[in-house]
Amino acid sequence: MATSKFHSLFSATLSNSLDHLPRKKWWGYDVHQWEGFWYLPSNLEAAIAARSHFEACSDDVVLASSMKTGTTWLKALIPSIMNLCGDDDNDPLIQNHPNALIPSFDVQLYKQNPPPDLSTMPFPRLFRTHMPYHVLPESIKSSDCKIVYITRNPKDTFVSLWHFMNTTRTPEQGPFPMLEAFESFCNGVHAYGPFHDHVLGYWKESLKRSQKILFLKYEEMKKEPRAQLKRLASFLERPFVKEEDVDKVLWRCSLDRLKNLEVNKNGVDPWVGMPHSSYFRLGNVGYWNNYFTTKMNERLDQITRIKLEGSGLDLAN
Ligand code: A3P
Repeated sequence: MATSKFHSLFSATLSNSLDHLPRKKWWGYDVHQWEGFWYLPSNLEAAIAARSHFEACSDDVVLASSMKTGTTWLKALIPSIMNLCGDDDNDPLIQNHPNALIPSFDVQLYKQNPPPDLSTMPFPRLFRTHMPYHVLPESIKSSDCKIVYITRNPKDTFVSLWHFMNTTRTPEQGPFPMLEAFESFCNGVHAYGPFHDHVLGYWKESLKRSQKILFLKYEEMKKEPRAQLKRLASFLERPFVKEEDVDKVLWRCSLDRLKNLEVNKNGVDPWVGMPHSSYFRLGNVGYWNNYFTTKMNERLDQITRIKLEGSGLDLAN
């Protein structure tokens, strides 16, 4: 059952050496603070292991994000750009959930013990992570590998996270109280939070090294998908030759298509225990409006204003 697998992974016991870290509750789960960010226990162990052992190669591509910012779209788009061949019947997205096309180097690969042998992975290797920039494995920062970061306005991110986390709850439990979840989000206490600090870490680095980090916004992807897709492809050094390929990739990776593929309607992610279907919902911009009170809106707007002040980054929409 998805829920029980999720519970066992998310409540894994930390080894003694990590037990001294600050601990709080998030959605009833323990989260621990490490280097300024909050982690579920097993994700923290995976992040620490990945930081110590993962060796990046110069042509790797790393997809980085905070949770619920549109990562799944990129998990489909990046492999589709990198392997733009074959007809629609051979599209790997038909047989694979996007999670399987780009492994998470921390949660998926370094959660295993002993660490996996990556020598057989085809090049260029594609990885993803929710780790904040400053704790990334040193080789990712120092090598020529590329980082694609996707973010989204914090209000839609929060609503998306609330829905996603509710899929871990039983019908008897019902949805988690939204105001309690909101309070945690505003305080930065959530998996890979604080959200704004996560975004700022990658944003600041992308300003310094635009050849290394491409900073994407979900809202811009929705507003001008063709332009943003071409930008992404050029950054990955796979510019589109034929205009029709732009439309082909957008169609292959569209929410409507992916959501209705059998592989995404059924099954459970083997690494985090979440239903495949929980990664696809509405994909709307501004949907927070249906949930937020005026007070919630003002509070999160104020946090965003204060956090982003002077950064040149705008996450409003
Ligand atoms: P909503 O919950 O607002 O619908 P992540 O992939 O980082 O977990 O983010 C999940 C959000 O991205 C969800 O938003 C989901 O519906 C949306 N999403 C997933 N696949 C998408 C796609 N192919 N195109 C656009 N949005 C997508």
